[in-house]
Amino acid sequence: MKIGILKETQKGERRVCISPTIAKQLIEKGFEILVEEDAGVNSSFKNSDYEKIGASVEIRGVVFKEAKVLVKINPFDEEDLKLIDNSHILMSQLFHKSHPDLIKAIAEKGATAFSMDAMPRISRAQDMDVLSSQSNLAGYKAVILGAYEMTKIFPLMMTAAGTITPSRVLVYGVGVAGLQAIATAKRLGAVVEATDIRMETKEQTESLGAKFISVDNSGEEKAEGGYAKAASEDYARRQKEAVNKSLFQADLVITTAMVPGRKSPILITEEQIKQMKNGAVIIDLAAAQGGNVELSKLNKTVIKDGVKIIGTTISPESVSTNASDLYGKNMFNFLKHLIKDNEFVWDLEEEITDETLIVHNGKIRKNGKTE
Ligand code: NAI
Repeated sequence: MKIGILKETQKGERRVCISPTIAKQLIEKGFEILVEEDAGVNSSFKNSDYEKIGASVEIRGVVFKEAKVLVKINPFDEEDLKLIDNSHILMSQLFHKSHPDLIKAIAEKGATAFSMDAMPRISRAQDMDVLSSQSNLAGYKAVILGAYEMTKIFPLMMTAAGTITPSRVLVYGVGVAGLQAIATAKRLGAVVEATDIRMETKEQTESLGAKFISVDNSGEEKAEGGYAKAASEDYARRQKEAVNKSLFQADLVITTAMVPGRKSPILITEEQIKQMKNGAVIIDLAAAQGGNVELSKLNKTVIKDGVKIIGTTISPESVSTNASDLYGKNMFNFLKHLIKDNEFVWDLEEEITDETLIVHNGKIRKNGKTE
């Protein structure tokens, strides 16, 4: 079966969906790999790196014509759609809930499409979960960005000229990104604290050597599939009471709290910012979903009362080599799951297939049931 690796066209995107290392593993499994010319150049992979492992590098039109399976990171765009027909099986993050027109257009072509971001949060799907592999990198990079923006260092340092006390880092939201942010800040020597509405994250935080700030969550709706539910106003008040002392002492704050399908909760208000340390930095990783900080703006730095608020998604493209390797490995595991003996299995009752298959032979599916 021929798999076509497409070059990403979205502005600012630097990743490629399958790196040469992963392409080699796919070839060893019996797949033929076609790579669009220069698909990997922004992730430090040359065309010749793909050729060396046995893939063929082709111009765009040839990849669409020859490959049955077309893979990407970002949703297929208008230019892609012109070249798609009913023989194609598309795989990318489609973000189908926010792109109904794209899904309709794919269906009109009679094609089939899987959405990588619709992966169910079950143990056996963990190695196919692109949202996790990419947020993990974002958590790491948030700390590096914070360290760069701060005017202090992280670790305790005893020198002849005096002792430098360690920086204090506070993380809101101990999900995939938050956990990696905690681990990274600890490795750099900071004193780290974290909080989350899901109490099961207490143990995970403590296992990394950080302090968990517990907030009474009684009466709050229980999380589903690892995700959090929207918190009540009462919880937000209790959270402020429990966390404010640490917030006002923090040198770096990283906010990652998200609730699927909703605007991110505001966890830090303008009033709280007034009481923070002069020179403190906040990296708001939830900025694309509205932000956890009242004043944050996506892709902007706002300075208020001496506090620098950086609203960002820390797109994994800033570490595109690793991000491409991990996305590619997720894709490899997904293909291995769907294809046996060089044929798609099409087990539509199976949970991973059911949840990720959005369009099947031109029919839009909802909750796994063909309309
Ligand atoms: P996320 O990006 O949706 O949210 C980040 C964190 O913010 C979550 O831990 C959430 O509880 C927290 N949060 C939301 N509202 C909050 C509030 N008002 N105050 C404080 N914290 C708040 O979550 P993410 O990182 O995508 O994953 C959450 C968990 O899901 C992971 O820790 C993991 O246990 C599980 N998971 C399981 C997978 C699998 O089994 N295949 C794959 C990915 C994640």
